[in-house]
Amino acid sequence: MIMNVLRPFISVHCAVLPFAITLLVFTGCERHDTSPRQPIAFSHTRHAGEYSINCQYCHSGVRRGPSASIPSVQTCMGCHQLVAATKPEVIKIRQAWENKEPIRWMKVNRVADFVFFNHAPHIAKGIDCRTCHGDVATMTEVRPFVKLNNMTFCVDCHRENKASIDCYTCHR
Ligand code: HEC
Ligand code: HEC
Ligand code: HEC
Ligand code: HEC
Ligand code: HEC
Repeated sequence: MIMNVLRPFISVHCAVLPFAITLLVFTGCERHDTSPRQPIAFSHTRHAGEYSINCQYCHSGVRRGPSASIPSVQTCMGCHQLVAATKPEVIKIRQAWENKEPIRWMKVNRVADFVFFNHAPHIAKGIDCRTCHGDVATMTEVRPFVKLNNMTFCVDCHRENKASIDCYTCHR
């Protein structure tokens, strides 16, 4: 555990670099500012914004445990068997379905692997998705939420809400 926690000090880490060095390696930190290219042009603005589909309809894992989960091809097909079925991006969903292949979505947010996070207790306390992901319903492509890679963001809220700030809560 100790080595895991120290690792960011040994390797180069965007969050802890002084300003000048940050400028020099700015391009190395680029993943914070751009979204990965997804295999299908899925839009949150369309689904969660325009059509107001509930976040938890697709990310039902948030109530149960650590992972929010990304919806299966079957969940998409629940609507897209009929909805917009002839549009090129939707045909890609049907092809994955017929070939029994998962859609290989690229991860957008990534906290360091020495951090333990669990969605369920946060959702149980009624914390809005926006607090930690920004207003995803207005994002055509999900952008990474930079604050998630900063321990102060987590610890400040834990302190305010009298949640545990013991190191072991998040580093185990
Ligand atoms: C119709 C299904 C659907 C709905 C509704 C939906 N999402 Fe998603 N979400 C996805 C899919 C598919 C991905 C993976 C592709 C992508 O990143 O755009 C995803 C990705 C994400 C990610 C990035 C995951 C990562 O890799 O870090 C976040 C954050 C997210 N959704 C939050 C939300 C929030 C908040 C809402 C409600 C405002 C919502 N989603 C509504 C299907 C959905
Ligand atoms: C207290 C902060 C917080 C809240 C509130 C929160 N998330 Fe997350 N979410 C995270 C963190 C941190 C990660 C990255 C986890 C990782 O990389 O291991 C994440 C990852 C995700 C992912 C990527 C898949 C996964 O589970 O790793 C999706 C999708 C997602 N969140 C959706 C949601 C939705 C939808 C809501 C609201 C219902 C929500 N989140 C509320 C902090 C939060
Ligand atoms: C609850 C219903 C529902 C679910 C579930 C759903 N969608 Fe959609 N989707 C829609 C609606 C409604 C539209 C808008 C259709 C239109 O404007 O013709 C849409 C539009 C789209 C489009 C845009 C088509 C275009 O070119 O304009 C894509 C791509 C898409 N969805 C992908 C997905 C993927 C991938 C999933 C699974 C992760 C998914 N959808 C799950 C209802 C849904
Ligand atoms: C907006 C406030 C807020 C933010 C931001 C936040 N948390 Fe929390 N967290 C809470 C609350 C409230 C609880 C629930 C405490 C309880 O159930 O008594 C909690 C619980 C947890 C738990 C479970 C603790 C246990 O004892 O089981 C973990 C793990 C956790 N948070 C990790 C994180 C991490 C990692 C981050 C940053 C990426 C984060 N949290 C950001 C408010 C927050
Ligand atoms: C509520 C959750 C939480 C608690 C409690 C917590 N940490 Fe962290 N810690 C994080 C997150 C999130 C990061 C940033 C990870 C990343 O960069 O993706 C982090 C990063 C770190 C780092 C790497 C340097 C940095 O700032 O990025 C060290 C070292 C560290 N924590 C030590 C500790 C120690 C020691 C304690 C107890 C005094 C502690 N942490 C308590 C969530 C937490």
